Amino acid sequence: MSGQARLTGLMARGAAFLGSEQAILAGAMSWVSERHLVAAMSNAGIFGVIACGAMTPELLDAEIEGTKALTAKPFGVNLITMHPDLDALIDICAKHQVGHVVLAGGLPPGGAIEKIKASGAKVICFAPALALAKKLIRSGVDALVIEGMEAGGHIGPVSTSVLAQEMLPTIAEQLPVFVAGGIGRGEAIAGYLEMGAAGVQLGTRFVCATECIAHPNFKKAFIRASARDAVASVQIDPRLPVIPVRALKNSSSELFTAKQREVAQLLDEGKVEMLEAQLQIERYWAGALRRAVIDGDVENGSVMAGQSVGMVTKEEPLADIVATLTGEAAIALDRRAA
Ligand SMILES: Cc1cc2nc3c(=O)[nH]c(=O)nc-3n(C[C@H](O)[C@H](O)[C@H](O)COP(=O)(O)O)c2cc1C
Repeated sequence: MSGQARLTGLMARGAAFLGSEQAILAGAMSWVSERHLVAAMSNAGIFGVIACGAMTPELLDAEIEGTKALTAKPFGVNLITMHPDLDALIDICAKHQVGHVVLAGGLPPGGAIEKIKASGAKVICFAPALALAKKLIRSGVDALVIEGMEAGGHIGPVSTSVLAQEMLPTIAEQLPVFVAGGIGRGEAIAGYLEMGAAGVQLGTRFVCATECIAHPNFKKAFIRASARDAVASVQIDPRLPVIPVRALKNSSSELFTAKQREVAQLLDEGKVEMLEAQLQIERYWAGALRRAVIDGDVENGSVMAGQSVGMVTKEEPLADIVATLTGEAAIALDRRAA
């Protein structure tokens, strides 16, 4: 059997679940994953996902409408569980009959999974550990993403290779599992599929697509950077648990330190509750990311990027990136069969 035929076979379950040609799920990226990039992804045969981020329900409504105008292929929506209007955002997805909703940013609040499923959509959640994966499966999720700390954006403490070994043998038969974090080439895609993943999720590798609206400075920073430049943020106060964020190193790490001090002091003075403190941190990230992605301030803004950034070497059409990844995966599978 040819490498391409083996790849098609290994991707069949994930592709059928997503309704796309390839079992490649696009990781939603706030400010980056808007209508143009998402439509280009779905048109190129992978599964595009709109990043709702901090959008209001009205803005999400318009973004879904705009994406539908650019592609007839299926795409999903990523919602952050901490969003204060989560319920209304779920209603917007239901109104548009969005087929897949990805819930990110912690365990979904009670009723969210049921509500999404009642609209006919499939629910995809992140599982950072085996015990949480089992809990989410019991709650009725349709698929899981397991994401390692090599990824860009908010990260957990464990590497992709360890999560994949720990989790795939136990859960991959029960539901489709997509592996994310640090994937920059097709050989890695082939490897995770052979380990039992239904598919993969990538973010960093797609940022320099021609169709991506990110500021040229943001793309240039990706093209220049190597893996070691994508570092995790540091928590400065043990009382304020902040989820680490992986981004290219620049002056913004000092700004984040200052922000943490400010929020920790508000906590100390009893001026905010922990949930509000965490929301303030998340709003800080949304603003800092916007500054880099939209305004092009890659020195003071947050240039969120995964360690695979070293494998991003040029700006090119999304379809070419997908063809490169699947071509590499097919060649790798060809070699293994020989
Ligand atoms: C610039 C950027 C912004 C991101 N924003 C989000 C987000 O809003 N929601 C989310 O669930 N994940 C977000 N992520 C994570 C991606 O969806 C994806 O899971 C991750 O990029 C995969 O790892 P990789 O970067 O190693 O490919 C972001 C990643 C990057 C690089």
